[in-house]
Amino acid sequence: MMAVNCTLQILLLLFILLSPVAITAGATDTFSKGQNVTDGETLVSAGGTFTLGFFSPGASAKRYLGIWFSVSSDAVCWVANCEHPLDDTSGVLVVASDTGDFLLLGGSGEVAWSSNSPNTSSVEAQLQESGNLVLHDQRSKTILWQSFDHPSNTLLPGMKMGKNLWTGDEWYLTSWRSPDDPSPGGYRRVLEYTTRLPEVVLWQRDAKAYRTGPWNGRWFNGVPEASTYAHDFPLHVTASTSEVTYGYTARPGAPLTRVVVSDAGVVRRLVWDASTSTWKTFFQGPRDVCDAYGKCGAFGLCDASAASSAFCGCLQGFSPASPPAWYMRETSDGCRRNVPLNCSGNGTATDGFVLVRGVKLPDTQNASVDTSISTEECRARCSANCSCLAYASAEIREGGGGGSGCIIWTGDVVDLRYVDRGQDLYLRLAESELAMPKSSKFAIVTVLAPVASVIGIILVLLFVIICWRRKHKISLHSSKFSYDSPVS
Ligand SMILES: *[C@@H]1O[C@H](CO)[C@@H](O)[C@H](O)[C@H]1NC(C)=O
Ligand SMILES: *[C@@H]1O[C@H](CO)[C@@H](O)[C@H](O)[C@H]1NC(C)=O
Ligand SMILES: *[C@@H]1O[C@H](CO)[C@@H](O)[C@H](O)[C@H]1NC(C)=O
Ligand SMILES: *[C@@H]1O[C@H](CO)[C@@H](O)[C@H](O)[C@H]1NC(C)=O
Ligand SMILES: *[C@@H]1O[C@H](CO)[C@@H](O)[C@H](O)[C@H]1NC(C)=O
Ligand SMILES: *[C@@H]1O[C@H](CO)[C@@H](O)[C@H](O)[C@H]1NC(C)=O
Repeated sequence: MMAVNCTLQILLLLFILLSPVAITAGATDTFSKGQNVTDGETLVSAGGTFTLGFFSPGASAKRYLGIWFSVSSDAVCWVANCEHPLDDTSGVLVVASDTGDFLLLGGSGEVAWSSNSPNTSSVEAQLQESGNLVLHDQRSKTILWQSFDHPSNTLLPGMKMGKNLWTGDEWYLTSWRSPDDPSPGGYRRVLEYTTRLPEVVLWQRDAKAYRTGPWNGRWFNGVPEASTYAHDFPLHVTASTSEVTYGYTARPGAPLTRVVVSDAGVVRRLVWDASTSTWKTFFQGPRDVCDAYGKCGAFGLCDASAASSAFCGCLQGFSPASPPAWYMRETSDGCRRNVPLNCSGNGTATDGFVLVRGVKLPDTQNASVDTSISTEECRARCSANCSCLAYASAEIREGGGGGSGCIIWTGDVVDLRYVDRGQDLYLRLAESELAMPKSSKFAIVTVLAPVASVIGIILVLLFVIICWRRKHKISLHSSKFSYDSPVS
């Protein structure tokens, strides 16, 4: 027993002597009233992952207070005074002695930023290992304010986007104005949940720029990449009466990661590659032309591999609303139904459904969702309601095939594209449109096929004749052939 104790004490002593870094770091992740962080000083989280301090972004000379990854000081994930930069290095972050607020003071004592947290006498500030700057009551340990509740352009593991339906608190990401200016830029990344089927939308001011597609129970339908990293970074979507949120966590030992909205409106999931000291892109959205919101308009279908048709086509049973505009690549007006639906709504309907396989499901803003019924019941419900234009499963099943739940679209089908591991959409069409697709692709095939086969036969015959003649020439005049060959 004694021996064990001694060994432990020696080990502890050795640890203390050999790891001054760990101890100073441990001491510098917190500060309280009366203490401060000046420009040039930093606060480092206990494990060393995150650093809080002053910085100047890009080519700017202005000073901002922010939090960044210690291994990559360019990777700023939160900025306090994004709209009120300081002009010099006289800034200081203090915990106000009267209110217990965070105050960022400039050289002349002006307040560049404040946390506006509840008035509390005994507070302590801590930069947690997660990258969260927390102000808590030293006695009750309740959190008074945290930077995770005030996201900048970055979503870190443990953060959330979405809404607390009880308090009304909402969390979303806002892009920087430029790499030199962290003030709010033109893009916002918001969790939309009008249908209680969350999907993440990138807004460019008041217009949708890019959708991830609805949550399918495992990933956002248009982001199949997530299936490759969900093991290290499990995604969490909550849709309850108290909150609709999306966030992710990091498995212990997983590499560092962040999701960033760039000033140019590109969302990236970046993962730190320690061996090369670089951030690797695991996902990027928009990924290609087809991710541009509403690229092919209502009832259009975007195919990123169909360069020959300028990526846009119409769903079966539909044709371009304006062929001249379509020719001019103005495809956002979309497509028009060829034959009106013939729906009586009492079981005598002659309409049917055509299956559109492997798509990012259309915008669900005006869709209705019922996760409690099966896809078969969904078909029956859509069939019986003349305003239902399309339906799909709300959740996919493990190992593909079928699914459960029900999404019903009664308005335009917008922002549809083919995507890897996509879902099945059932589109209502008049009986006459159900049989063979009348799309231009098929029209060309049916017109050209007989012509092509005739040409083919002629070519084969010509080839046979030429070969036969050559063969005879070669055997008859072999010396001429060998003389000719270097030239040819
Ligand atoms: C910051 O703290 C130092 C002592 O650590 C003190 O001398 C200085 O006045 C403080 N600055 C402010 C603005 O509170
Ligand atoms: C905060 O508390 C201090 C004393 O505890 C008081 O003097 C001050 O007026 C309070 N401020 C607010 C905004 O309530
Ligand atoms: C229902 O079907 C019957 C024929 O079976 C038809 O006479 C009637 O008009 C239909 N009702 C509606 C509302 O379409
Ligand atoms: C419309 O449906 C009715 C049965 O409900 C059928 O008699 C009629 O032929 C259909 N019309 C067309 C154009 O398909
Ligand atoms: C949903 O409905 C609103 C109001 O009618 C309309 O402005 C909007 O474009 C619709 N969204 C979609 C995706 O159809
Ligand atoms: C048909 O669907 C629409 C939209 O979901 C709904 O408002 C309407 O009540 C439905 N009609 C019937 C008869 O179920």
